Amino acid sequence: MNENTVDVRFDVVSELVRERRTNMIVDRDREVPESVIRELCELAIWAPNHKRTWPWRFAVFTGAGRERLGATCADDLIAGGSADEGKIAKVRGKYLRVPVVVVIGSAPDEHPTFHDENRDAVAAGIQNMLLGATAIGLASFWSTAPVADGVATLNLCGFEDGTRIIGMVYLGWPTGDAFPGQRPELEAKFVRD
Ligand SMILES: Cc1cc2nc3c(=O)[nH]c(=O)nc-3n(C[C@H](O)[C@H](O)[C@H](O)COP(=O)(O)O)c2cc1C
Repeated sequence: MNENTVDVRFDVVSELVRERRTNMIVDRDREVPESVIRELCELAIWAPNHKRTWPWRFAVFTGAGRERLGATCADDLIAGGSADEGKIAKVRGKYLRVPVVVVIGSAPDEHPTFHDENRDAVAAGIQNMLLGATAIGLASFWSTAPVADGVATLNLCGFEDGTRIIGMVYLGWPTGDAFPGQRPELEAKFVRD
């Protein structure tokens, strides 16, 4: 690989990273092929993972499954003591806004450090997914679960006890632009001696 090739590869990565935007303005009726969703999950599992614990767990919701996901998350909110009718109603319907929701969990580990590092690995994996989605023109949105460790939602997803939901990733074909990207200026300390 010559210097020129390295430059080109860096430019591609740099552009992709900057192009990715949180966006949910999508065609909710246009399906995303299952093969594409699988490929995105495959990208996630190439994230770095200390101790090779392979902590990522995936559950994919499409069609009426999205309604079940909303109803189950609402059940967990209620089980957790929420009486906020507005919030509960919103959660019931929110997954219908996109054709696909991928719930990504991080498996538990007895060792507290590895437990946290599992979460880090899963978060890195989610970013891989989002970049992959961007590369093929899919809009994506990383959202927080209404209840990260709700028993009903974990059961529905087929995740083992103690799993934490790290992200609910919305995917769909974009019909509109997201807000422009924005980041503060980089600050980094270099210690040389
Ligand atoms: C762990 C995590 C959880 C997030 N949860 C939410 C969420 O629940 N709702 C939301 O609107 N955005 C959520 N986001 C997305 C951020 O709001 C978004 O990345 C931020 O606004 C910057 O926009 P950009 O991704 O287009 O640069 C989450 C992002 C991360 C990393």
